[in-house]
Amino acid sequence: MIAKTSPGELGAPQYPDYLPHYDPLESVEPVGPFEHDEPGLRADKECPNLLKGATKIFELSPHCGTEIQGVQISRLSNAALDEMAYLCAERGCLVFRDQDYTDIGFEAQKKIASYFGPLHKHGWMPHPENGPVEFVIVYDSKERSDLRIRKSWARKSPIQFHVDQSPEAQPPGLTFFCMLESPPGSGGDTIISSMYRAFERLSPSFRKRLEGLTALHTTANPIARELRDNGDLAVLRRPITKAVHPVVQVHPVTGRKSLFVNSSYTQRITGWDDEESDMMLRFLFDHVNRGQDFACRVRYEPGTVVVWDQRCTQHSQTLDYEAGGRRHAFRLTPLANVPIPSKADDDDGGDCAQDEGRMMLNLC
Ligand SMILES: [Fe+2]
Repeated sequence: MIAKTSPGELGAPQYPDYLPHYDPLESVEPVGPFEHDEPGLRADKECPNLLKGATKIFELSPHCGTEIQGVQISRLSNAALDEMAYLCAERGCLVFRDQDYTDIGFEAQKKIASYFGPLHKHGWMPHPENGPVEFVIVYDSKERSDLRIRKSWARKSPIQFHVDQSPEAQPPGLTFFCMLESPPGSGGDTIISSMYRAFERLSPSFRKRLEGLTALHTTANPIARELRDNGDLAVLRRPITKAVHPVVQVHPVTGRKSLFVNSSYTQRITGWDDEESDMMLRFLFDHVNRGQDFACRVRYEPGTVVVWDQRCTQHSQTLDYEAGGRRHAFRLTPLANVPIPSKADDDDGGDCAQDEGRMMLNLC
C-alpha cells in the first residue's frame, strides 16, 4: 500500500509517492519485439464476469465510450479482464468510477495493466522518484516551480488528438489512466474519439484510396520540444523512435478498420511527395479534430480510471481548468500487436456505387 495524505491537508498532494521525477541522466531499455497474446479474443462477448457487479452501465456517446459503475477493476478475474479488452475494443473507452486501484500500490497496479501486454517505458515523461519507470506521471499544480507539463503545452493548441506512442513497432493497445486528484469543479477532461467511425464516415472511394498506404511515425518532434524547453535538463531516456504503420489498420478483436495517423507522431505518408503527404495528413488531422460526432468527453473525479484502446481511438487533453488547480494522474501503457494493415475489398458491397449516388444528389 502507498503513503497517502488526507484530502485538503493544507493543499498538500494526496499522493506524494506519485510526484513526478525528472532525471536527465536516466536511460531505459525499450521492451523489444514480443509475441502479443490478445486477451480480447478469449472473451465471452456478453461480458458476464466484467459486468456481474455493475450497478449502472451507460454509453457516453453513440460511437465511443461506456461508463461502468459498481465494478472495482482491482478485483477482476482474468476472464473479466479478457472481457474488459473485448468491450474496450468495441466501445473505444471504458470509464470506471470510485476505484480503489488508486491505493493498491505500484506493483499491484502494474500487474493489472501488464495483463494486457508488456508495459511501455516512456522516453521523456516523468515517473515517480521511487517508483517504476513504466509509470507516466501527469501532474499540474502551482506549488512546484520545476513542473514542465504546462511548459510542454505552451505555444500550441491544447487540443492535440493523438495515439500515445504510436512510433513503437508494437504500439499500445489498452491503456490505463488513473486520476488521483483532479481540480475542484469542472475541467481537465479527456476527449476520446473513435477512429473506427473517423474512417467509416469518409466516402467509400476515399476510404479505398487510404487503404494500403503506410505512414512514418516518429518521436522526433516531441523530443525536439523537450530539448527546446529544458536544454541541459531535458529528459531523453531513449533515442528517437520510428516506425512505419498502415494508415488504416484492422483491430485484431473486432475486425473493424480504423484510421491510424495522428498529429503528434505521424510525419509523412510513405512514398508520397511532401506536398501530397502534407495535404492528405492535414485533411485527416482536421477530420479528427472536427469529429465531435464520433467523440466522447470524459469528466474526472478522484478515483476515476479510464481505459482506452489506442488501436481504435485518439484522445486529447482539454487544459481548460484554472492554472494552479492540482491535477494528478498516472498512466500505464501496455504494448500490443504490430498493426494489421487494412486492404480494400475488391468486392466493395456497392460502396462505390454509393459515391455515384452522392454525385447524383450533388448534381441535383
Ligand atoms: Fe496521451
